[in-house]
Amino acid sequence: MDAKWTRRAAAAAAVTVVRAAGAKPALLGGEPIRKHPFPKWPVYGPPEETALVSTLRTGQWYRGSGSAVGRFEEKFATAMGSPYCLAVANGTSALMVALHGLDVQPGDEVIVPPYTFIATINAVLSKGALPVFIDTDPRTFQMDTTKLEAAITDRTVAAIPVDMAGAPANLDHANEIGRRRGIKILEDAAQAHLGEWRGRKLGTICDAGTFSFQASKNLNSGEGGAVLTRDKALWERCYAYHTNSSARRGTEPAASMGGNYRLTEFQAALLAAQMDRLEAQARQRDANAALLSKQFRVIGGVAPAEWTDGCTRSAWHLFMFRYDAAQFHGLPRAKFLKALAAEGIPCSSGYTPLNKQAFLRNVLEGRGFQRLFSRERMKQWQERNHCPANDQLCTEAVWFTQNMLTGGEEDMQQIALAIDKIKAHASELAK
Ligand SMILES: Cc1ncc(COP(=O)(O)O)c(C=O)c1O
Repeated sequence: MDAKWTRRAAAAAAVTVVRAAGAKPALLGGEPIRKHPFPKWPVYGPPEETALVSTLRTGQWYRGSGSAVGRFEEKFATAMGSPYCLAVANGTSALMVALHGLDVQPGDEVIVPPYTFIATINAVLSKGALPVFIDTDPRTFQMDTTKLEAAITDRTVAAIPVDMAGAPANLDHANEIGRRRGIKILEDAAQAHLGEWRGRKLGTICDAGTFSFQASKNLNSGEGGAVLTRDKALWERCYAYHTNSSARRGTEPAASMGGNYRLTEFQAALLAAQMDRLEAQARQRDANAALLSKQFRVIGGVAPAEWTDGCTRSAWHLFMFRYDAAQFHGLPRAKFLKALAAEGIPCSSGYTPLNKQAFLRNVLEGRGFQRLFSRERMKQWQERNHCPANDQLCTEAVWFTQNMLTGGEEDMQQIALAIDKIKAHASELAK
């Protein structure tokens, strides 16, 4: 970026985008807007080092002998305002454990969104249950709960609204339908640490909520996960399942199947230390995302995902927006992404429609599922498996990752400048 331009950018009011018409796009040989990387992720220091080394020195590295997992569960439960927390190996196992706790069995149906990470669907499939997709609200990028009730059949036992990017679908609506129709609602809050619905933490709003602490997440220990619930009996079932059918000391032995989905003491110690950074990092993302959203409104043609009415805070795991090529002289999204990356702004096109992927067809055509679901039922599933709004959204979406929101205002200004510059030169770029 040339010096004059930098001064103008710095002088610009926080929400004013400096017109970049004079500067040549980096993709066409101009200077990139940004020449240094966005803040690194994860962030760590002496507290994490102390936590890990002291766990090492206890020589007690699994939850059966140590106390770090139990302490983390208490700390996370308190921070989230949930009476029960179970730490597990990762977010996928959290979903599998919770689905077991909710008694999802082979041959059942579970309603899911097509706009999510594949793990949401894999967890359902791993139970021998059929994922039934309902469409996405393209304004919010969340499950369209107005489609939920019509998707319920005699086999439906649960629905999984996903808090995409850290903001929710209409969870009141999902819960109301769940109660009235006798199905469980499992909130996949893998991306939603400290996000809120009507002032309460995401992951605590439905029958159960699950989290991921995988490396990209806002709270991370490389791998890790958790289940939250207010239901003690559900928590007990999850506990037994996550540790090969063992009951906790002093309780009756569990009479159900299980596996090993335990978190290690090291991961728990690291998570407890990382939690002390969480609120300050979240505030930074709140401020930066608000600024970027305002700048986007000035630019036009880039529409940030809206919050469902009732959302009071997003975790901003991602900053998602819809790109309108028509407002960029028809510049295709792929070229827009390329031009943005050339300006030094990393970005991606996000998810592709999960309900249409080959892996799903292969699983459903496999021997096990053919035995569980009649030809007639699978035909009906096929006929219902249309999510046109989601298909369209997947052609328009653009994502920034959460670490890009953890720096200063200048970072947001540069993102806005880069998009504005591309817009000003869209017709040349489109050639
Ligand atoms: C919405 C969603 N669900 C589930 C998962 C699975 O979590 P993990 O990768 O920890 O298994 C993820 C992780 O990316 C996710 O984004």
